[in-house]
Amino acid sequence: MKIVIIGGTGLIGKKLTSILSAAGHEAIPASPSSGVNTLTGEGLAAAFTGADVVVDVSNSPSFAPDEVMAFFSTSANNVAAAEKAAGVKHHVALSVVGTNRMDSGYMKAKIAQEKIIAGSGIPYTILRATQFYEFLPAIGDFSTVDGVVHLPPVHMQPLAAADVSAELARIAEAAPVNGIVEVAGPEKLTIAEFVQRALAAKKDPRKIVADPGSTYFGARVDDQQDRLSGLKAKRSSMSDRAPWTLQEACPSLKVQESCQSPFHDEPHKIPLLQIFRNLRH
Ligand SMILES: NC(=O)c1ccc[n+]([C@@H]2O[C@H](COP(=O)([O-])OP(=O)(O)OC[C@H]3O[C@@H](n4cnc5c(N)ncnc54)[C@H](OP(=O)(O)O)[C@@H]3O)[C@@H](O)[C@H]2O)c1
Repeated sequence: MKIVIIGGTGLIGKKLTSILSAAGHEAIPASPSSGVNTLTGEGLAAAFTGADVVVDVSNSPSFAPDEVMAFFSTSANNVAAAEKAAGVKHHVALSVVGTNRMDSGYMKAKIAQEKIIAGSGIPYTILRATQFYEFLPAIGDFSTVDGVVHLPPVHMQPLAAADVSAELARIAEAAPVNGIVEVAGPEKLTIAEFVQRALAAKKDPRKIVADPGSTYFGARVDDQQDRLSGLKAKRSSMSDRAPWTLQEACPSLKVQESCQSPFHDEPHKIPLLQIFRNLRH
């Protein structure tokens, strides 16, 4: 199949492109760096010509509420129009477990994206994943005030980006479900416990405190509605075969360069600190 991966140069996109190519598909990464821009529509028609499936794993360069909303809603509309014109048979998108239960600007934008996809008339499958292990250090960085990490005392159930990519590949090869599928990691601990592990592996001495007044990237979270852990999410199948612990994910924590997850610093075009700045303003 010809499968176009929007955001194919990102953390998930690169892994997904590799998995689909190895399975024999014509997997085409599409993003601004290859002349495809979902915000302006540039390059979409050419990229989608002859495509069977489009997988959208792009992300907004800015998390500021207005900008992230503009990114996901404008992009979803442009992509849907181009897919319709090209006769794409299956649209797959990656979203976040708990989008419907959290009130941050980012989550509202993901809901807007989901609604446009569901109303587009293109057969679709939305995969909602919990947070990636790779994202844990960023959670710590965002939640740091005067050198101390303040985290809401609630549980989460993260998973490896490799697991998310494998799940997306399975979905791209299958028939559309015209609905939402959820996936979560094998272990449910507090945000503080996961972030503590991530910081410890980097020998980062920052202190972590459970702070009921703190938010998760601007969203109020609690355990009552299982906002971050995905009450109905299934465990990722790769994790089922070989349950992920952070130690197993990074057997040689001393050699961080060779560590796959969660402490491998994937090159980000937009520095995470820049994203946080955008979110705060
Ligand atoms: N972080 C988490 O824990 C988490 C959890 C669940 C779901 N998700 C979802 O996972 C998705 C992917 O996240 P990620 O971390 O893999 O993203 P990422 O590494 O930040 O990559 C972002 C991708 O989006 C592309 N992009 C940016 N602007 C674009 C535009 N105007 N048109 C087309 N492509 C554009 C970038 O292309 P260039 O390289 O060319 O700039 C890049 O390929 C997001 O939608 C996010 O909501 C994240």
